Amino acid sequence: MTRAQHTGDLRIAVLGVGMMGAFHADALSSRIRGARVSVVSDFFAEKAGEVAARVGARVETDPIAAINADDVDAVLIATPGKAHDEQVNACLDRGVPVLCEKPLTTDIASARAIVEKEGALGTPLIQVGFMRRFDPEYVALKRLITDGSLGNPLIVHCTHRNPAVPEFFNSEFMIRDSVVHEVDVARYLLDEEIVSVQVIKGVATSSAPQGTSDPMIVVFETASGRIVTDEIYVRTGVAYEVRTEVVGEQGSATIGLDQNLVVKTTDGRWGGTITPGFVERFGQAYDIELQRWVDAARNGTIDGPGAWDGYAAVAVCEAGVEAVRTGQKVPVDLGPVPGAAGAADEVPAAGITAPDMEAAR
Ligand SMILES: NC(=O)c1ccc[n+]([C@@H]2O[C@H](COP(=O)([O-])OP(=O)(O)OC[C@H]3O[C@@H](n4cnc5c(N)ncnc54)[C@H](O)[C@@H]3O)[C@@H](O)[C@H]2O)c1
Repeated sequence: MTRAQHTGDLRIAVLGVGMMGAFHADALSSRIRGARVSVVSDFFAEKAGEVAARVGARVETDPIAAINADDVDAVLIATPGKAHDEQVNACLDRGVPVLCEKPLTTDIASARAIVEKEGALGTPLIQVGFMRRFDPEYVALKRLITDGSLGNPLIVHCTHRNPAVPEFFNSEFMIRDSVVHEVDVARYLLDEEIVSVQVIKGVATSSAPQGTSDPMIVVFETASGRIVTDEIYVRTGVAYEVRTEVVGEQGSATIGLDQNLVVKTTDGRWGGTITPGFVERFGQAYDIELQRWVDAARNGTIDGPGAWDGYAAVAVCEAGVEAVRTGQKVPVDLGPVPGAAGAADEVPAAGITAPDMEAAR
Protein backbone atom coordinates (compact mmCIF):
# COMPACT_ATOMS: atom_id res chain seq x y z
CA MET A 1 0.00 0.00 0.00
CA THR A 2 1.30 3.50 -0.87
CA ARG A 3 1.33 5.91 2.03
CA ALA A 4 -0.78 9.05 1.65
CA GLN A 5 1.09 12.32 2.33
CA HIS A 6 -0.78 15.39 3.57
CA THR A 7 0.51 18.91 3.09
CA GLY A 8 -2.45 20.77 4.56
CA ASP A 9 -4.13 20.13 7.90
CA LEU A 10 -4.93 16.48 8.54
CA ARG A 11 -8.73 16.18 8.49
CA ILE A 12 -9.84 13.89 11.28
CA ALA A 13 -13.12 12.10 11.97
CA VAL A 14 -13.70 11.62 15.70
CA LEU A 15 -16.01 8.68 16.40
CA GLY A 16 -17.62 8.77 19.83
CA VAL A 17 -17.54 12.07 21.65
CA GLY A 18 -18.26 10.98 25.20
CA MET A 19 -15.68 11.73 27.87
CA MET A 20 -12.54 10.67 25.95
CA GLY A 21 -13.60 11.61 22.40
CA ALA A 22 -14.72 15.10 23.42
CA PHE A 23 -11.42 15.60 25.24
CA HIS A 24 -9.44 14.53 22.15
CA ALA A 25 -11.64 16.62 19.79
CA ASP A 26 -11.01 19.72 21.89
CA ALA A 27 -7.27 19.03 21.94
CA LEU A 28 -7.17 18.50 18.15
CA SER A 29 -8.93 21.80 17.54
CA SER A 30 -6.81 23.83 19.95
CA ARG A 31 -3.51 22.44 21.22
CA ILE A 32 -2.46 20.07 18.41
CA ARG A 33 -0.68 21.41 15.30
CA GLY A 34 -1.32 20.29 11.72
CA ALA A 35 -4.78 18.82 12.23
CA ARG A 36 -8.43 19.72 12.50
CA VAL A 37 -11.59 17.80 13.28
CA SER A 38 -13.64 17.70 10.07
CA VAL A 39 -16.31 15.16 11.07
CA VAL A 40 -17.87 14.12 14.38
CA SER A 41 -19.94 10.96 14.74
CA ASP A 42 -21.78 9.72 17.81
CA PHE A 43 -24.95 7.70 18.36
CA PHE A 44 -25.97 10.44 20.77
CA ALA A 45 -26.93 13.10 18.17
CA GLU A 46 -27.20 16.00 20.60
CA LYS A 47 -23.69 15.43 21.93
CA ALA A 48 -22.31 15.07 18.37
CA GLY A 49 -23.90 18.39 17.38
CA GLU A 50 -22.59 20.15 20.46
CA VAL A 51 -18.96 18.98 19.98
CA ALA A 52 -19.08 19.53 16.18
CA ALA A 53 -20.26 23.12 16.67
CA ARG A 54 -17.50 23.74 19.20
CA VAL A 55 -14.68 22.43 16.98
CA GLY A 56 -16.03 23.63 13.61
CA ALA A 57 -16.81 20.17 12.19
CA ARG A 58 -19.84 18.60 10.54
CA VAL A 59 -21.88 15.73 11.96
CA GLU A 60 -22.10 12.35 10.24
CA THR A 61 -24.55 10.03 11.94
CA ASP A 62 -23.16 6.75 10.54
CA PRO A 63 -19.61 6.09 11.87
CA ILE A 64 -18.70 3.93 8.85
CA ALA A 65 -19.81 6.71 6.48
CA ALA A 66 -17.63 9.09 8.52
CA ILE A 67 -14.59 6.82 8.02
CA ASN A 68 -15.22 6.73 4.26
CA ALA A 69 -15.99 10.43 3.84
CA ASP A 70 -14.03 12.50 1.29
CA ASP A 71 -13.22 15.13 3.91
CA VAL A 72 -11.54 12.60 6.23
CA ASP A 73 -7.80 11.72 6.10
CA ALA A 74 -7.52 9.93 9.46
CA VAL A 75 -9.79 8.60 12.18
CA LEU A 76 -9.81 8.78 15.97
CA ILE A 77 -11.96 6.09 17.58
CA ALA A 78 -13.26 6.84 21.08
CA THR A 79 -16.42 4.77 21.00
CA PRO A 80 -16.89 1.98 23.59
CA GLY A 81 -14.66 -1.08 23.06
CA LYS A 82 -17.41 -3.23 21.53
CA ALA A 83 -17.66 -0.86 18.53
CA HIS A 84 -13.92 -0.87 17.79
CA ASP A 85 -13.72 -4.07 15.72
CA GLU A 86 -16.05 -2.90 12.94
CA GLN A 87 -14.70 0.65 12.94
CA VAL A 88 -10.99 -0.32 12.91
CA ASN A 89 -11.68 -2.80 10.10
CA ALA A 90 -13.39 -0.06 8.09
CA CYS A 91 -10.28 2.13 8.54
CA LEU A 92 -8.08 -0.73 7.25
CA ASP A 93 -10.44 -1.27 4.30
CA ARG A 94 -10.07 2.37 3.32
CA GLY A 95 -6.36 2.49 4.21
CA VAL A 96 -6.51 5.47 6.56
CA PRO A 97 -4.43 5.88 9.75
CA VAL A 98 -6.43 5.39 12.92
CA LEU A 99 -5.83 6.16 16.59
CA CYS A 100 -8.04 3.68 18.43
CA GLU A 101 -8.59 4.15 22.14
CA LYS A 102 -7.92 1.02 24.14
CA PRO A 103 -9.06 -1.74 23.93
CA LEU A 104 -8.26 -2.60 20.32
CA THR A 105 -11.24 -4.98 20.42
CA THR A 106 -13.01 -6.91 23.16
CA ASP A 107 -11.98 -10.47 22.21
CA ILE A 108 -8.76 -12.21 21.22
CA ALA A 109 -9.92 -13.57 17.85
CA SER A 110 -11.02 -10.21 16.44
CA ALA A 111 -7.86 -8.47 17.72
CA ARG A 112 -5.70 -11.16 16.13
CA ALA A 113 -7.63 -10.89 12.84
CA ILE A 114 -6.93 -7.14 12.79
CA VAL A 115 -3.19 -7.70 13.38
CA GLU A 116 -3.12 -10.09 10.43
CA LYS A 117 -5.18 -7.86 8.17
CA GLU A 118 -2.95 -4.87 8.86
CA GLY A 119 0.13 -7.05 8.36
CA ALA A 120 -1.11 -8.01 4.90
CA LEU A 121 -1.40 -4.32 3.98
CA GLY A 122 2.34 -3.91 4.55
CA THR A 123 2.15 -0.58 6.36
CA PRO A 124 1.14 0.13 9.96
CA LEU A 125 -2.08 2.14 10.15
CA ILE A 126 -3.36 1.35 13.65
CA GLN A 127 -2.13 3.12 16.77
CA VAL A 128 -3.68 2.12 20.10
CA GLY A 129 -4.33 4.74 22.79
CA PHE A 130 -1.90 3.58 25.46
CA MET A 131 -0.99 7.14 26.38
CA ARG A 132 1.31 6.29 29.28
CA ARG A 133 4.07 5.56 26.74
CA PHE A 134 4.04 9.34 26.05
CA ASP A 135 4.04 10.45 29.69
CA PRO A 136 7.40 12.11 30.47
CA GLU A 137 7.74 10.16 33.74
CA TYR A 138 7.23 6.77 32.08
CA VAL A 139 9.62 7.80 29.31
CA ALA A 140 12.24 8.75 31.94
CA LEU A 141 11.70 5.45 33.78
CA LYS A 142 12.12 3.51 30.56
CA ARG A 143 15.34 5.40 29.84
CA LEU A 144 16.75 4.37 33.25
CA ILE A 145 16.19 0.78 32.16
CA THR A 146 17.52 1.05 28.63
CA ASP A 147 20.63 3.07 29.60
CA GLY A 148 21.48 0.48 32.27
CA SER A 149 21.22 2.85 35.27
CA LEU A 150 19.15 0.38 37.27
CA GLY A 151 20.98 -2.70 36.10
CA ASN A 152 18.93 -5.71 35.07
CA PRO A 153 15.27 -4.91 35.93
CA LEU A 154 13.96 -7.75 38.10
CA ILE A 155 10.58 -6.59 39.40
CA VAL A 156 8.02 -3.94 38.43
CA HIS A 157 5.54 -2.88 41.14
CA CYS A 158 2.48 -0.98 39.96
CA THR A 159 -0.25 0.75 41.94
CA HIS A 160 -3.48 1.90 40.29
CA ARG A 161 -6.03 3.58 42.56
CA ASN A 162 -9.12 5.56 41.66
CA PRO A 163 -11.17 7.59 44.13
CA ALA A 164 -14.47 6.16 42.84
CA VAL A 165 -15.96 4.36 39.83
CA PRO A 166 -19.51 3.57 38.62
CA GLU A 167 -21.40 0.59 40.08
CA PHE A 168 -20.84 -1.55 36.93
CA PHE A 169 -17.06 -1.56 37.54
CA ASN A 170 -16.85 -5.19 38.71
CA SER A 171 -13.71 -7.32 39.08
CA GLU A 172 -13.63 -8.27 35.38
CA PHE A 173 -14.13 -4.68 34.30
CA MET A 174 -11.29 -3.62 36.61
CA ILE A 175 -8.99 -5.96 34.68
CA ARG A 176 -10.17 -4.95 31.20
CA ASP A 177 -10.43 -1.20 31.81
CA SER A 178 -7.77 -0.37 34.42
CA VAL A 179 -5.22 -3.19 34.62
CA VAL A 180 -4.97 -3.06 30.81
CA HIS A 181 -2.83 0.07 31.24
CA GLU A 182 -0.39 -1.75 33.55
CA VAL A 183 -0.25 -4.61 31.03
CA ASP A 184 0.97 -2.19 28.40
CA VAL A 185 3.30 -0.41 30.85
CA ALA A 186 4.95 -3.71 31.78
CA ARG A 187 5.42 -4.71 28.12
CA TYR A 188 6.72 -1.22 27.29
CA LEU A 189 9.17 -0.99 30.19
CA LEU A 190 10.52 -4.53 30.01
CA ASP A 191 10.27 -4.95 26.23
CA GLU A 192 9.02 -8.50 26.48
CA GLU A 193 5.75 -10.37 26.55
CA ILE A 194 3.66 -11.39 29.54
CA VAL A 195 3.23 -15.16 29.68
CA SER A 196 0.99 -15.69 32.71
CA VAL A 197 -1.47 -13.87 34.97
CA GLN A 198 -2.52 -14.57 38.53
CA VAL A 199 -5.06 -12.61 40.58
CA ILE A 200 -5.16 -12.54 44.37
CA LYS A 201 -8.40 -11.36 45.93
CA GLY A 202 -8.42 -10.12 49.50
CA VAL A 203 -11.01 -8.52 51.73
CA ALA A 204 -13.12 -6.11 49.65
CA THR A 205 -13.68 -2.51 50.63
CA SER A 206 -17.13 -1.97 52.13
CA SER A 207 -18.08 0.33 49.22
CA ALA A 208 -17.56 -2.46 46.63
CA PRO A 209 -20.78 -3.99 45.26
CA GLN A 210 -21.57 -7.56 46.30
CA GLY A 211 -19.35 -9.99 44.37
CA THR A 212 -16.75 -7.41 43.33
CA SER A 213 -13.21 -7.92 44.59
CA ASP A 214 -11.82 -4.45 45.13
CA PRO A 215 -8.85 -4.28 45.74
CA MET A 216 -7.00 -7.10 43.98
CA ILE A 217 -3.32 -7.89 43.45
CA VAL A 218 -2.49 -9.00 39.93
CA VAL A 219 0.79 -10.81 39.31
CA PHE A 220 2.23 -11.10 35.81
CA GLU A 221 5.16 -13.22 34.76
CA THR A 222 7.18 -12.22 31.69
CA ALA A 223 8.77 -14.43 29.06
CA SER A 224 12.19 -14.18 30.74
CA GLY A 225 10.72 -14.83 34.20
CA ARG A 226 10.50 -11.29 35.57
CA ILE A 227 7.68 -10.46 37.99
CA VAL A 228 5.21 -7.58 37.69
CA THR A 229 2.75 -6.81 40.47
CA ASP A 230 -0.26 -4.52 40.20
CA GLU A 231 -2.43 -3.37 43.08
CA ILE A 232 -5.76 -2.40 41.55
CA TYR A 233 -8.06 -0.54 43.94
CA VAL A 234 -10.70 1.67 42.36
CA ARG A 235 -12.86 2.81 45.29
CA THR A 236 -10.32 4.39 47.65
CA GLY A 237 -12.43 7.48 48.25
CA VAL A 238 -9.20 9.51 48.09
CA ALA A 239 -7.71 10.43 44.69
CA TYR A 240 -6.08 9.13 41.51
CA GLU A 241 -2.83 7.41 42.40
CA VAL A 242 -0.84 5.68 39.69
CA ARG A 243 2.68 4.68 40.66
CA THR A 244 5.26 2.43 39.11
CA GLU A 245 8.47 1.22 40.69
CA VAL A 246 11.17 -0.67 38.84
CA VAL A 247 13.52 -2.69 41.00
CA GLY A 248 16.78 -3.53 39.30
CA GLU A 249 20.02 -5.24 40.27
CA GLN A 250 21.71 -1.86 40.75
CA GLY A 251 18.92 0.32 42.07
CA SER A 252 15.24 1.17 41.98
CA ALA A 253 13.16 4.08 40.74
CA THR A 254 9.57 5.12 41.35
CA ILE A 255 7.34 7.42 39.31
CA GLY A 256 3.93 8.87 40.16
CA LEU A 257 5.03 10.60 43.33
CA ASP A 258 5.51 14.13 41.99
CA GLN A 259 2.18 15.44 43.25
CA ASN A 260 2.53 13.55 46.45
CA LEU A 261 5.38 15.27 48.25
CA VAL A 262 5.50 14.23 51.84
CA VAL A 263 5.52 17.17 54.24
CA LYS A 264 5.53 17.00 58.04
CA THR A 265 2.99 19.40 59.47
CA THR A 266 2.91 20.93 62.93
CA ASP A 267 0.10 18.64 64.04
CA GLY A 268 2.35 15.67 63.42
CA ARG A 269 0.59 14.47 60.25
CA TRP A 270 2.24 13.69 56.97
CA GLY A 271 0.66 14.70 53.71
CA GLY A 272 0.76 16.41 50.36
CA THR A 273 -1.44 16.78 47.31
CA ILE A 274 -2.58 13.88 45.15
CA THR A 275 -3.79 14.17 41.55
CA PRO A 276 -7.61 14.14 41.60
CA GLY A 277 -8.16 12.32 38.27
CA PHE A 278 -6.57 10.78 35.19
CA VAL A 279 -6.92 13.91 33.05
CA GLU A 280 -4.85 15.90 35.55
CA ARG A 281 -2.26 13.12 35.80
CA PHE A 282 -2.05 12.22 32.10
CA GLY A 283 -3.28 15.38 30.30
CA GLN A 284 0.18 16.10 28.94
CA ALA A 285 0.62 12.49 27.83
CA TYR A 286 -2.65 12.59 25.85
CA ASP A 287 -1.51 15.74 24.05
CA ILE A 288 1.94 14.36 23.23
CA GLU A 289 0.31 11.13 22.03
CA LEU A 290 -2.05 13.08 19.75
CA GLN A 291 0.66 15.34 18.35
CA ARG A 292 2.95 12.40 17.57
CA TRP A 293 0.08 10.50 15.96
CA VAL A 294 -0.97 13.51 13.85
CA ASP A 295 2.62 14.08 12.69
CA ALA A 296 2.89 10.42 11.69
CA ALA A 297 -0.60 10.19 10.18
CA ARG A 298 0.23 13.12 7.89
CA ASN A 299 2.72 10.69 6.35
CA GLY A 300 0.19 7.86 6.33
CA THR A 301 1.62 5.92 9.29
CA ILE A 302 1.72 5.70 13.12
CA ASP A 303 4.16 6.60 15.91
CA GLY A 304 3.34 4.63 19.02
CA PRO A 305 1.89 1.35 20.27
CA GLY A 306 0.44 -0.56 17.36
CA ALA A 307 -2.01 -3.35 16.57
CA TRP A 308 0.23 -6.05 18.06
CA ASP A 309 0.42 -4.13 21.35
CA GLY A 310 -3.36 -3.80 21.33
CA TYR A 311 -3.78 -7.50 20.62
CA ALA A 312 -1.30 -8.52 23.34
CA ALA A 313 -3.16 -6.38 25.87
CA VAL A 314 -6.51 -7.95 24.91
CA ALA A 315 -5.02 -11.45 25.27
CA VAL A 316 -3.39 -10.75 28.66
CA CYS A 317 -6.59 -9.15 30.00
CA GLU A 318 -8.63 -12.12 28.80
CA ALA A 319 -6.28 -14.37 30.78
CA GLY A 320 -6.65 -11.95 33.72
CA VAL A 321 -10.42 -12.26 33.62
CA GLU A 322 -10.10 -16.05 33.63
CA ALA A 323 -7.69 -15.77 36.58
CA VAL A 324 -10.32 -13.72 38.46
CA ARG A 325 -12.97 -16.36 37.74
CA THR A 326 -10.88 -19.46 38.49
CA GLY A 327 -8.33 -18.28 41.03
CA GLN A 328 -5.71 -20.08 38.91
CA LYS A 329 -2.48 -18.88 37.31
CA VAL A 330 -3.52 -18.55 33.65
CA PRO A 331 -0.99 -18.81 30.80
CA VAL A 332 -1.02 -16.33 27.90
CA ASP A 333 -0.43 -17.68 24.43
CA LEU A 334 -0.08 -14.93 21.82
CA GLY A 335 0.80 -17.24 18.94
CA PRO A 336 3.25 -16.23 16.24
CA VAL A 337 4.00 -12.66 15.23
CA PRO A 338 2.56 -12.37 11.70
CA GLY A 339 5.34 -12.11 9.17
CA ALA A 340 8.11 -13.01 11.65
CA ALA A 341 10.73 -15.39 10.25
CA GLY A 342 9.90 -18.97 11.13
CA ALA A 343 6.37 -18.12 12.30
CA ALA A 344 4.37 -21.31 12.48
CA ASP A 345 0.64 -21.69 13.02
CA GLU A 346 0.96 -22.41 16.73
CA VAL A 347 3.88 -21.00 18.72
CA PRO A 348 3.67 -20.51 22.51
CA ALA A 349 4.00 -16.97 23.88
CA ALA A 350 7.24 -17.85 25.65
CA GLY A 351 8.83 -18.26 22.22
CA ILE A 352 8.20 -14.64 21.29
CA THR A 353 11.08 -12.39 22.23
CA ALA A 354 11.51 -8.64 22.26
CA PRO A 355 13.71 -8.56 19.13
CA ASP A 356 10.99 -10.51 17.29
CA MET A 357 8.52 -7.85 18.32
CA GLU A 358 10.69 -4.98 17.19
CA ALA A 359 11.23 -6.63 13.83
CA ALA A 360 7.50 -6.99 13.38
CA ARG A 361 6.68 -3.31 13.99
N1 LIG B 1 -6.65 5.96 27.29
C1 LIG B 1 -7.33 6.23 28.39
O1 LIG B 1 -6.78 6.60 29.40
C2 LIG B 1 -8.83 6.11 28.38
C3 LIG B 1 -9.59 6.71 29.39
C4 LIG B 1 -10.98 6.59 29.32
C5 LIG B 1 -11.58 5.89 28.29
N2 LIG B 1 -10.80 5.30 27.34
C6 LIG B 1 -11.41 4.53 26.24
O2 LIG B 1 -12.06 5.45 25.37
C7 LIG B 1 -13.22 4.84 24.82
C8 LIG B 1 -14.43 5.71 25.14
O3 LIG B 1 -14.55 5.79 26.54
P1 LIG B 1 -15.40 6.98 27.21
O4 LIG B 1 -15.11 6.88 28.66
O5 LIG B 1 -15.17 8.24 26.50
O6 LIG B 1 -16.90 6.45 26.94
P2 LIG B 1 -18.24 7.31 26.89
O7 LIG B 1 -19.33 6.35 27.18
O8 LIG B 1 -18.10 8.53 27.75
O9 LIG B 1 -18.34 7.78 25.37
C9 LIG B 1 -18.59 6.89 24.31
C10 LIG B 1 -19.41 7.65 23.26
O10 LIG B 1 -19.54 6.81 22.11
C11 LIG B 1 -20.90 6.86 21.62
N3 LIG B 1 -21.12 5.61 20.91
C12 LIG B 1 -21.41 4.41 21.41
N4 LIG B 1 -21.40 3.47 20.46
C13 LIG B 1 -21.12 4.11 19.30
C14 LIG B 1 -20.96 3.69 17.94
N5 LIG B 1 -21.07 2.41 17.59
N6 LIG B 1 -20.67 4.64 17.01
C15 LIG B 1 -20.58 5.96 17.35
N7 LIG B 1 -20.69 6.40 18.62
C16 LIG B 1 -20.96 5.49 19.57
C17 LIG B 1 -21.75 7.06 22.86
O11 LIG B 1 -22.99 7.69 22.54
C18 LIG B 1 -20.84 7.96 23.73
O12 LIG B 1 -21.09 9.34 23.50
C19 LIG B 1 -13.29 3.43 25.42
O13 LIG B 1 -12.73 2.52 24.53
C20 LIG B 1 -12.47 3.55 26.68
O14 LIG B 1 -11.90 2.34 27.11
C21 LIG B 1 -9.46 5.42 27.35
